[in-house]
Amino acid sequence: MTKILITEFINQDSLNNLKKKFEVKYDENLCENNKELEKKIKDCDGLIVRNKTLVNSKILDNANNLKFIGRLGVGLDNIDTEYCKNNDIHVQPATGMNADSVAEYVLSSSLSLIKKIPMFHAGTIKGDWPRTAIKSAELKQKYLGVIGFGIIGKKVAEYGLKNGLKILAYDPYLKELNDKQINAELSNLAHIYERSDIISLHLPLTEETKNLINKSSFSQMKKKPIIINTSRGTVVNENDLIDAYNENLISGFALDVFENEPIKSEFYKKINPEMNCILTPHISGVTTESNVRVSDFIVKKTIEFFN
Ligand SMILES: NC(=O)c1ccc[n+]([C@@H]2O[C@H](COP(=O)([O-])OP(=O)(O)OC[C@H]3O[C@@H](n4cnc5c(N)ncnc54)[C@H](O)[C@@H]3O)[C@@H](O)[C@H]2O)c1
Repeated sequence: MTKILITEFINQDSLNNLKKKFEVKYDENLCENNKELEKKIKDCDGLIVRNKTLVNSKILDNANNLKFIGRLGVGLDNIDTEYCKNNDIHVQPATGMNADSVAEYVLSSSLSLIKKIPMFHAGTIKGDWPRTAIKSAELKQKYLGVIGFGIIGKKVAEYGLKNGLKILAYDPYLKELNDKQINAELSNLAHIYERSDIISLHLPLTEETKNLINKSSFSQMKKKPIIINTSRGTVVNENDLIDAYNENLISGFALDVFENEPIKSEFYKKINPEMNCILTPHISGVTTESNVRVSDFIVKKTIEFFN
């Protein structure tokens, strides 16, 4: 019987459906134990992971029967896709299944940060009454620069447009905007830095995108934008970002992804509660609804693949 190994959390009903077809080993903590994973993967035909399982060549060398990897989410930087390609292992992401969740996160943090809610909150619970000391603004008619205009970037643009934002998009692999429904202006990075009031990142982590937003990028930002990163931590240089905030080059930031997850004390020591910032533990794509969609999609694709 086909054997499937699942190393991170999955929706229970989707799991039950998978168990009707295959022999399934499910341990949602296995992602934290590579030694055990090396043993358990030996005779498996399929592997299902999220982003915490490091599917590197060492793990894959032990996977003698592996033909399929299902990724409960998008972003394949934790999987050695080159190895998979060379060894005929099909890698299946849950493309688009969490796009609405991420887009809602970007919209809600844009609103919260432009209205300086974290600062008003910190001041008010401290007993200050910062009614006039802090200036907030409206989202309407502001420019949102979207870097990486794939499935999620476009969804974010859609949500932005519905809320009165004007959209600038940067994606070097997109020669023209063929989606007539999305009213965005295709721009270069310099233009995005110069014109945006909010900059949101939606690109994969690759050698090319690592450290893309750095000291030099912040120095070109003219309107003290809000930075929102839900892509991958190292796409933005975290130290340069904190420096940029302290130097008043940006007016706020929301980070859902970090260079180290969980974040290390060296990083959170640099954060104080009065900053206009939101930090979350890599949850922008994970909601009750998206978990069902993502899990159902990967279970369906697994069944289709082995049929
Ligand atoms: N925080 C979360 O919970 C969460 C959830 C989902 C996705 N993500 C991240 O978001 C990323 C985007 O997801 P998606 O579904 O939109 O992927 P996608 O593949 O549909 O879109 C990515 C886009 O980035 C573009 N791109 C590649 N290199 C670029 C560069 N150097 N500069 C600008 N654009 C570039 C690609 O051309 C593509 O259009 C994923 O790779 C993942 O890392 C995070």
